[in-house]
Amino acid sequence: MNVSIINPKNNSPLTETDKGLVDSFGNIFPIIRGVARISELENYSENFGMQWNKFDKTQLDNEIDGLNLSHRRFFAATHWDQVDLSGKCILEVGSGAGRFSKVVLEKTKAVLYSVDYSDAVTANYKNNNPIAPDRFHLFQASVYEMPFPDNSFDKVFCFGVLQHTPDFDASVKALIDKAKPGGEIAVDFYPIKGWWTKINAKYILRPITKKMSHERLFSLIEKNIGWLISIHDMFHRIGLGFMTRFLPICNVKESFPNSLTKAEVREWAILDTFDQYSPEHDHPQRIADVAKMFERHGAQVTFSGIEEFGEGMSASVVRGIKVGIENADNVGY
Ligand SMILES: C[S@@+](CC[C@H](N)C(=O)[O-])C[C@H]1O[C@@H](n2cnc3c(N)ncnc32)[C@H](O)[C@@H]1O
Repeated sequence: MNVSIINPKNNSPLTETDKGLVDSFGNIFPIIRGVARISELENYSENFGMQWNKFDKTQLDNEIDGLNLSHRRFFAATHWDQVDLSGKCILEVGSGAGRFSKVVLEKTKAVLYSVDYSDAVTANYKNNNPIAPDRFHLFQASVYEMPFPDNSFDKVFCFGVLQHTPDFDASVKALIDKAKPGGEIAVDFYPIKGWWTKINAKYILRPITKKMSHERLFSLIEKNIGWLISIHDMFHRIGLGFMTRFLPICNVKESFPNSLTKAEVREWAILDTFDQYSPEHDHPQRIADVAKMFERHGAQVTFSGIEEFGEGMSASVVRGIKVGIENADNVGY
């Protein structure tokens, strides 16, 4: 069964015309570069649109390196059964260039509905629409105004996104609202590990870097990434790895697989450093607090903790099952 597509402002069904998606009041949502644009085109996530269109293939699984990091992270974080997903309706929120859309479309027979608030949808459409156009429905939309009725999806996932939304708790609620009673929700996010989490060059410099023009910040990172990687490596070699938190570069040692080539490390480091210093929002959370948000908004937590997915890599994950509407008040928190 397919999910209805609606105008999130008035719940009126949308139908496709040559002008775009149109509701019964004549409101039009244009289709641009293959994707229906439900949200306003200009918003706080433009940095992501720029980043994912520049680095549209960087983190996608490919047969050449055989790393399958997105595949491994997807199944480690969700614990969903590949075969059982056949015919299920899955919602993905914040798809970026589509590394996880690709996994769902290539490795399962699920029907995927995917949204991202930025023009990253252009990259995702190019990367993934050819794989299974009949099972892929992509929209530029915000987690807060998605073009689907509540209680629509068998599964909902949202990876690497929630910390970049203005209201983490409201975003968790929006994800749970879209799941059917009995549907499963899986999220991963930046964790607060302790008091030291925010003692980091990123949180010291972000008030300045997030206000810079994206082009200027990008070119600054590109020019300086070489020596930053060298110093980062040196600190680790001499046993002072903890000092790297004071360098304005992403955590190359702990967040990249060991098998990347030098050129790939450079490319991933530019992407990840821009990803950390440019966003308007960066609100890491304690895993236990996110579990409480699940319970508060009507989902029973089935897992909260760290999931490892190989090459020394891991993600902070919370999974839950939406309780039946009649039971929503009985969920403890
Ligand atoms: C760090 S990227 C992660 C993308 C992808 N999930 C991945 O792991 O490669 C975060 C994404 O969240 C999207 N995003 C931010 N705020 C959003 C919102 N309110 N609604 C939907 N997507 C949002 C951004 O546009 C961006 O593509």
